[in-house]
Amino acid sequence: MSILFLLLFFPLLLPPSLSLPYPYNASYRIDCGGLTPSTDSYNTSWLADEFFTGGSTAVVSEPLHFHLPQEKTLRYFPLSSGKKNCYNIPVPPGRYYVRTFTVYDNYDGKSHSASFDASVEGTLVFSWRSPWVENLARDGAYSDLFAFVKDRQLDFCFYSIATDAPVIGSLEVVQIDPLSYNSPETGDSYILVNYGRLSPGSPQWGPGFTSDPDPFGRSWQSDADYRNANSASARVITTKEKITGTEQAPNYFPMKLYQSAVTIGGGLEYELDVDAKLDYLVWFHFAEIDSTVKKAGERVFDVLVNEKNVSRVDIYKEVGSFAAYSLNYTEKNLSSSVLNVKLVPVIGAPLISGLENYAMVPADLSTVPEQVIAMRALKDSLHVPDRMGWNGDPCAPTDWDAWEGVTCHADKNGTGLVITQIDLGSQGLKGYISDQISLLSNLINLNLSANALEGTLPIGLGQKSLARLDLSNNQFSGSIPESLTSSNLQLVYAT
Ligand SMILES: *[C@@H]1O[C@H](CO)[C@@H](O)[C@H](O)[C@H]1NC(C)=O
Ligand SMILES: *[C@@H]1O[C@H](CO)[C@@H](O)[C@H](O)[C@H]1NC(C)=O
Ligand SMILES: *[C@@H]1O[C@H](CO)[C@@H](O)[C@H](O)[C@H]1NC(C)=O
Ligand SMILES: *[C@@H]1O[C@H](CO)[C@@H](O)[C@H](O)[C@H]1NC(C)=O
Ligand SMILES: *[C@@H]1O[C@H](CO)[C@@H](O)[C@H](O)[C@H]1NC(C)=O
Ligand SMILES: *[C@@H]1O[C@H](CO)[C@@H](O)[C@H](O)[C@H]1NC(C)=O
Ligand SMILES: *[C@@H]1O[C@H](CO)[C@@H](O)[C@H](O)[C@H]1NC(C)=O
Repeated sequence: MSILFLLLFFPLLLPPSLSLPYPYNASYRIDCGGLTPSTDSYNTSWLADEFFTGGSTAVVSEPLHFHLPQEKTLRYFPLSSGKKNCYNIPVPPGRYYVRTFTVYDNYDGKSHSASFDASVEGTLVFSWRSPWVENLARDGAYSDLFAFVKDRQLDFCFYSIATDAPVIGSLEVVQIDPLSYNSPETGDSYILVNYGRLSPGSPQWGPGFTSDPDPFGRSWQSDADYRNANSASARVITTKEKITGTEQAPNYFPMKLYQSAVTIGGGLEYELDVDAKLDYLVWFHFAEIDSTVKKAGERVFDVLVNEKNVSRVDIYKEVGSFAAYSLNYTEKNLSSSVLNVKLVPVIGAPLISGLENYAMVPADLSTVPEQVIAMRALKDSLHVPDRMGWNGDPCAPTDWDAWEGVTCHADKNGTGLVITQIDLGSQGLKGYISDQISLLSNLINLNLSANALEGTLPIGLGQKSLARLDLSNNQFSGSIPESLTSSNLQLVYAT
C-alpha cells in the first residue's frame, strides 16, 4: 500500500518547483529622449521617455550607426535644468537590476563629451569624465548594477561637473530576487556595480545584443578580450544539451551561460580592470560539458584570485556532468587596479563557463526621510526654479553639493543627513512657506529675504534649533507666530 501511495503522489511532489514562473514582474525600459513607445528587433518593449525631472531630448549625430531605436535618442540635462537631475521611477520596494546606455556621438555638434556623475538611491555609482575614450563616445556603452530600493521610488540621478550636460540614452529597471548574489550574508546596504560579466566561449549575448532571455535583464560579454596572453589560444567547447540546475532562484542564471566554455591545458588566466579601493564580489560558473569526462577526479583545478587560492574545483565530483556549479568569493579591500583570476590545473585542463565581478559599493548616507518630505514641500510651496536643481535627495550623495542654497550635516548618531541651512535670498521666489518646514528640526539658518513670498508664517516655524532668520523684503501677512519670539533667535523681519 505504501509503495502505491508513493507512486501515485510522487509526481505531484516534483513539478511545481520546476515550472514556477519568474515571480517578479516590476520592470521599466525607458527610451530616454524617445517620443513614442516602441518595440526593438529583439522584441523588447520600450516606454516613451518619462519619469525625468528636467532636461531636453536629442538624437545621436549618426542614427544609422545604431541598430536599436532606443539607442538613437537621448536625454541631456543642460545647466538651465539645474546641476542635479533624476529619473524618479515608481516601484514596489525590493531589489532591482538597473542598466543605462550612455552615448555621446556628438549629438550637440560641440565635439565635447561631458563630465558627470550618476547615483542610484543617493549613492554615487558611475563617473564619466571628458574626453571619453573614442569608441565609447561614438558607439555608447551599457553599464549596470544591482541595488535595493527601500521606499516606493527608484531615484537614478545625474550631477553635472563644471557646466557639462549629463546625458543618457536608455534606462532599464528590472525587479530581481532580493536574495540573489549572496545578499542574505552581505545585507541590503551594498550596491553591486558590474565590473565584468563574461560568458567564456560565446560572443556577446542577452538583452541589447541578442534575443536570448535572462529574467534579470543581464547581458553577457565574450571573455576573449579579458584572457591574458598565455591563455589566448584556449579552446572553445559548446553544447546544445540541457544543463540541469540552471534558471533557479535566487540567481536565475540562464542555461545558455553553461552551454559554452573555454579550456586550456596549461591553465587559464583573466585580468579584469577595477578602479576603486573596495570589496569585489566574484562569481565563477562551471559545467562539465565535455562528455569524455565520466567521473570525479578527471578534471581538477584550483581557482586563484590575485594569487590567493580560493577553492579546488572538481565539477564532476560536485554536480556530475551537464549540471551547473557556481562559486562565489569576496576579495576584500582590493588595492590593485586589476583583479587577476587564474585556473591552475591539478588533473586535466581547467574549464570555465562564466565569470562575474562586482564592486560592492556601500550605500551612502541619505537625508532623514521626514526632512526629505519637508524639503519637497518647500520646493513646491516656494516655487523653487528648475535651475536650482532641487531634484533627488536634498543632501546625498555626499560627494555632490547639496541642493543649491542648502547646507547639510550628518545627524547626531551619524545614521542620516539633516538640513542645517537654507539660503534662498533674492531668488525671485513667488509662493509661500509650507508648514512642513517644522520637520526641519536641525535648521539653524533660514534666509528667504528679498523674494516675493506671501501668506502667513507657519506656526511650525521657530524650531528650537533656529538661530538666524531673515524674511525681510517679502509680502508676508498676518502676525508673527509666538514660536518666533524666543530670545536667542536673531530675527530680521520686515514685510
Ligand atoms: C505583479 O505581481 C503582484 C503580486 O506579486 C501583483 O499584485 C501585480 O498585479 C502584478 N503586476 C502585474 C503588472 O502583473
Ligand atoms: C514577439 O512577441 C510577440 C508577442 O508578444 C510574438 O507573437 C512574436 O512571435 C515575437 N517575435 C519574436 C521574433 O520573438
Ligand atoms: C587550494 O585550496 C583548496 C581548499 O580550498 C585545497 O584543497 C587545495 O589543496 C589548495 N591548493 C593548493 C595548491 O594549495
Ligand atoms: C557564496 O559564498 C558564500 C561564502 O563562501 C557561501 O556561503 C554561499 O553558499 C555561496 N553561494 C553560492 C550560491 O554558492
Ligand atoms: C585596506 O588596504 C590598505 C592598504 O592597501 C590598508 O592601509 C587599509 O588599512 C585596509 N583597510 C581595511 C579596512 O582593511
Ligand atoms: C538617529 O537619529 C535620528 C534623528 O536624527 C532618529 O530618527 C534615529 O532613530 C536615530 N537612529 C539611531 C540608530 O539611534
Ligand atoms: C540674507 O541673504 C541676503 C542676500 O540675498 C543678504 O544680503 C543678507 O545679509 C542675508 N541675511 C542674513 C541675516 O545673513
